[in-house]
Amino acid sequence: MANTILIGAQWGDEGKGKIIDVLTEQADIVVRTQGGNNAGHTVYLGPKKYVLHLVPSGILRKRKTCVIGNGVVIDPVNLVGEIDGLEKLGIRMGSNLLISETAHLVFPYHRELDAQREVLKGKNKIGTTKRGIGPAYGDKAARTGLRMIDLIKPDLFAEKLRAKIRENNEILKAFGAKPLSYKKVLEAYSEAGRRLQPFVSNTVVYLHQACQAGKNILFEGAQGTFLDIDHGTYPYVTSSNTTAGGACTGSGVPPHRMDSVVGVMKAYTTRVGEGPFPTENNEFADFLHNLGREFGATTGRPRRCGWFDAVATGHATMVNGIDEIAVTNVDGLDTLDVIRVCVAYRHGGERLDYVPADASVLAECEPVYVEFPGWKCDTTKSRRWKDLPPKARSYLNAIAELTGAHLSIVSVGPAREQTLFL
Ligand code: IMP
Repeated sequence: MANTILIGAQWGDEGKGKIIDVLTEQADIVVRTQGGNNAGHTVYLGPKKYVLHLVPSGILRKRKTCVIGNGVVIDPVNLVGEIDGLEKLGIRMGSNLLISETAHLVFPYHRELDAQREVLKGKNKIGTTKRGIGPAYGDKAARTGLRMIDLIKPDLFAEKLRAKIRENNEILKAFGAKPLSYKKVLEAYSEAGRRLQPFVSNTVVYLHQACQAGKNILFEGAQGTFLDIDHGTYPYVTSSNTTAGGACTGSGVPPHRMDSVVGVMKAYTTRVGEGPFPTENNEFADFLHNLGREFGATTGRPRRCGWFDAVATGHATMVNGIDEIAVTNVDGLDTLDVIRVCVAYRHGGERLDYVPADASVLAECEPVYVEFPGWKCDTTKSRRWKDLPPKARSYLNAIAELTGAHLSIVSVGPAREQTLFL
């Protein structure tokens, strides 16, 4: 498999967790490179369901090393909770988990500021996960953040935290929010620091040596292309680079070491939070929610749903350099008579074949659809490409062609065996 970057080609929740889990079989190392515990990767192993937030999904397989890279923002208390939860389920963590010493930390004041800023924005809110992601990356960019390397040096950490709490309590007071207790935060974070210390290392050097030794590395993306801070529907985005470039900056592995980019997309489109979504369709959303599908893994929020948007996935191919695509949730369309695909946008009498940069323009775009006949049968038992009904194959071939990448994986259900390789 060599070194593969796997990214979401839509607005997140494309089913990356499952595809990563399947591809991990061929990988030696799995690396998370951006985002924080705003992500939620759901993986089913037999009857067991695992929701991973920060720990790479490779942890569910034996003899894989998992790396939380420098580009990730870590809430250490939450990460300890996730590790404990996984250990309770029988997943052991030792030298198979490495945490970058330069990953930045998320603190309770980041979460509180995230929530307060959303309230202040009123109807223009972003609809964040309230995990403090934006304010934590804000501190990183402002060069005022604390990192894992600080957390594991108790005396220095106590001193740096005191200054941060003092400063942020002033800001919280201005919002009319309750100030934080330095003592309580220090206690909780010091304990988390003690627990995480054995995992903390120089992951840049580790990954460099792994590349030299010819190891196969899988870079697992979180969120999706249109939530990218640079290439997404700004300001309705997350605060990291969710596109392929983020895998390099968030791990320290240079671009020429990357061999391929796999884009994961649903056979339709979903989005959580606010922001433009041209193919959104409430009737289709009700249909999927009534099937018990499309509720967020991290927040439980019902996702907004719409038809497949090939303008968006084509754009994702462009900014990520996607070579291959994995299409998930095909079974979600099994009972439909007609399936629509957006092939262009119409805006002010003009036809657009690209995603406009201005979110307010995108919000005004009307999708131009082509229709495909539904296959009206159960695909969940398909195990090979040729088991799929011909109409499903035509649909998948068409969306791959419109996206401009090679179709290589199709997923027809949450289980590992419900994965078809072309
Ligand atoms: P934040 O990342 O919590 O700041 O949220 C910013 C935007 O990204 C909101 O619209 C969130 O709903 C969205 N978002 C963040 N993480 C995910 C994810 O893992 N899947 C889908 N949407 C996400």
